[in-house]
Formats: sequence, C-alpha cells, structure tokens
Amino acid sequence: MSLIPTISEISGKVGPGQLKKLARYSREVLKAGQAESGAIIACPNFEVYRYSWLRDGSFCAYALSLAGDGAQAAAFYRWVGRVVGRYEQKVESAILRHRAGEKLTDADFLNTRYTLDGAEEKGHDWWNFQLDGYGTWLWALSRHLELFPDEQLKAELQRPVEIVVRYLAAFWQLPNYDCWEENREGVHPATLAALYGGLKAAAFLYPQSLICREGRKQSSAILAFVKTNGLNQDSLVKTVGLNEVDSSLLGAAMPYSLFPRRGKIIRTTIARIEQELVSPQGGVYRYRRDVYYGGGEWLLLTAWLGWYYAGVGRREEARNCLNWVAQQADLSGNLPEQVAPNLLAPAHLPIWEERWGKSASPLCWSHAMYLILYTALYGPLD
Ligand code: BGC
Repeated sequence: MSLIPTISEISGKVGPGQLKKLARYSREVLKAGQAESGAIIACPNFEVYRYSWLRDGSFCAYALSLAGDGAQAAAFYRWVGRVVGRYEQKVESAILRHRAGEKLTDADFLNTRYTLDGAEEKGHDWWNFQLDGYGTWLWALSRHLELFPDEQLKAELQRPVEIVVRYLAAFWQLPNYDCWEENREGVHPATLAALYGGLKAAAFLYPQSLICREGRKQSSAILAFVKTNGLNQDSLVKTVGLNEVDSSLLGAAMPYSLFPRRGKIIRTTIARIEQELVSPQGGVYRYRRDVYYGGGEWLLLTAWLGWYYAGVGRREEARNCLNWVAQQADLSGNLPEQVAPNLLAPAHLPIWEERWGKSASPLCWSHAMYLILYTALYGPLD
C-alpha cells in the first residue's frame, strides 16, 4: 500500500487550485488506504493505527462516495457486513446473557477496530468497547445508497444491518468508551448522536422490517434520553453528568441531526465549542483537558466545524476552516491527525512520542473530512 505524493506546493499560502489539488490528493490517500478486503486503514504509517476502525472508515467511505468512487465505498460497506456476519454469534450471545441479567465484560462486545482481514486483533489490549462506529456505519451506508442506488448491495447488507440494529438497541444505554477511546465509565451524548443518526437511517432504508421498528423506537428513546440527561443550560455535554464540552458533539448537528441545526441546542453547543475549543489560529481542540499528544488542534475536527458552517450557510467561516486544514499539510500533501504549535498540555507530547512515535500522518480520517468539507463548499471533484 503506497501513497503517491503528488503535490509539493500545499504548505503555506493556499489558493483555490491548491485546495482542489489537496482534495484530489485526499481522494488518492483514501483509495491507497483501502485494502483488497475493502477495509480502510486509519493510518498506514503509524503502527497502532494500522487497523480499520468503523468510525474512521465510514467517514472515509462517505468521502469516497462524494468523490464519485462508489465501488470503493461499497467495498468498505460490504467488508463491515462480512465482519458483522463473522461475529454474529458474539452479538447473539451478548444479547441473551445481558437479558438474563449477566454482567458482560468488554471482550463480550463487538470491537471498535479490526485487522484489514476483518478479524479481531490479538496482541494489543485496545479500548474496544465503543458503540458510535456502528451508528456511523449505518448512517454512511444510507448516504451511499442515496448517492449510488443499489438494490443488490442493500439486500446483501440487510442481515448485517439487522444484527447491528439489534446490538445497538440492546446496549446503547450502557456506558462505553467515547469516540476518543477514553472515559469507559461514561455515557456520551456524541456517541448517542451517532447511534441516533444510524438507527434512523437504517429505519428509513428498510421500511416494514424489524430494522425499521427497532430503529424508530430506539432513536426516539435516545433523543428523549439526551434531552433529559445530556444537556446543561441548552448546551450538549461531553459526558452525562459533567458540565464539559467536546468537539465531537458537532456530530449532533452534522451529520446525525440529533437536534435541528439552526435550533437553540445546536447553536448554544456550537457557541461553546467556538469559545472553548477553537484556537486563536482557527484549529479545533477535542476538549480542554485533552493530553493525548499534548492536546493539539485536530484537522478532522476543524474540517468538521467547517462542514457545519457550510451546512448553515456560514460559508466564509467554512472556507477559513478549509484553509486552516490545508495549511497543515506537509510538502507531499499529507494531513496529520493533529498539529502541535498551540498545545493544551505540552508536557504530555514527549510522553506520547516516546510511546508511539510522531503523531499519525497521513490520517485517512483527516483527509476524508477535508474532502467532505471541500465538496460541501465547491461541489464534487471533476
Ligand atoms: C482517536 C480515535 C480514532 C483512532 C484512529 C484515536 O486516537 O481517538 O477517534 O478512531 O485514533 O484514527
């Protein structure tokens, strides 16, 4: 799997031609990051990210659909379908044991990431019990099928979608790791937003089925739960019970539409993100207490904020986000996970570098979000 460096002018000042080149390059990075199986690697150059995450991969597949690469995107959805089929017994047994009142361990749940062959990895102890990626997969699949109607793919994936819907229906109320793979003991509204978006999308895709009934029922229950437990003075919180904000809550607006994009709750949450989590230079942090790699500004979150701005017609701010992300590219056009000039917790950077080496680059998810924002602003690549 080799990446093809095609641009050298990206860093520094960026004009429209370079923004487009970076969008094209991002598409190449995503295609190069796809294994024959259909899995999409999180980052080819960072040992612990040489796996496929449902969360990262689904955004990458969505970006590929937007870029016109429907076959590649479909291969990812099918790959996840096979993975879910492979671990179906695990799901059935977890649901039965949970209903019988047994306490499950993290190993009883589906993983958050898999080897590129679609197996649970052995050897690393990962923070595997995370639910949001399964919601993201459902959501992205439905968007793909809107862009590329395909009855065969839809029929093929009905069974895995049903398994995922039953799995999420059974477990969404349990505390599980947030999308940053932290805080195992909490219930996280950003995770619930992804599940809401995914369950609604699945219900829409397969009307008159168990998927539809469960999808509708559970998404309504999730919304009611968040309204009661996930807000502090009209602002969504990072974790139920804590008055803290996290940029992953952007997902509640775009793309999962947990609340109306222009409504009070989203406006208040975005205002808090802008106040607390955007650096003076315009990069977006995950949350104030972040220490991972010193707590840098994340490219994918900056593009995500831009995606929201584009969605509510704040185009100039959306363009600023796109520009900021483009300015972080290295000479080949590679986009890292995060950048370090304005760290929240600088003392922690060397600790992580010692443990895992330099921060991941190119991060496929960063490229995906760049491409998504680029398309939202300037339309599909020609
Ligand atoms: C992030 C996850 C991400 C993973 C792979 C982790 O550091 O917290 O959100 O899925 O990297 O990119």
